Amino acid sequence: MKFFADTAELEEIRELTATGLLDGVTTNPSLIKKSGRDFLEVIKEICDLVEGPVSAEVVATDFDTMVKEALKLSAIAKNIVIKVPMTLDGLKTCKLLSEKKIMVNVTLCFSANQALLAAKAGASFISPFVGRLDDISEDGMALIEDIRLIYDNYGFETQILVASIRHPIHVLEAARIGADAATIPTDVLRKLFHHPLTDKGLEAFLKDWEETGQTIL
Ligand code: G3P
Repeated sequence: MKFFADTAELEEIRELTATGLLDGVTTNPSLIKKSGRDFLEVIKEICDLVEGPVSAEVVATDFDTMVKEALKLSAIAKNIVIKVPMTLDGLKTCKLLSEKKIMVNVTLCFSANQALLAAKAGASFISPFVGRLDDISEDGMALIEDIRLIYDNYGFETQILVASIRHPIHVLEAARIGADAATIPTDVLRKLFHHPLTDKGLEAFLKDWEETGQTIL
């Protein structure tokens, strides 16, 4: 499963890139606001750091302006993925861009039918928001299962990019279901490294080693 960082924070991206675990980055207007950075500048800097897909979202809601924004964003770097909202104009934009071989990530997906439409429109990625569904007492992961089944039924190549991830169990369930990718907030990504028995075991090994009086270097 591919790991994307759901952030526009350069330092976080730089550090995670060094682990070799990062396959891409996703941003959205709220994450750009949080970063306090200029949108076009920060996207360019992220693309310079990351080889994999970097999602940058259009903010227009009508087809003509969405396409203009998408073309401007896609000129920033080869690895830009244009994020469009799951609307009729968004999917028209998706179809046009995918015909031009520009990768598209359809965002704000909350139903399996929406995911089916996005795949038919040629999306490279569909972003179902599991956390926001859980927040309203729906089952976010059941949506991922449905989309996996539907895409496999018809051989759609659109990648399921699980979004709105809130905790490590979301990542685990996405992997169990066979989602292609998960876009993960950096605090959740860091939690994946940890287990209390790892910390406890390391502490015991180091204590015993110290008592041997030996050194390796
Ligand atoms: O980038 C889209 C998605 O991951 C947003 O997550 O936590 O704002 O629901 P969240």
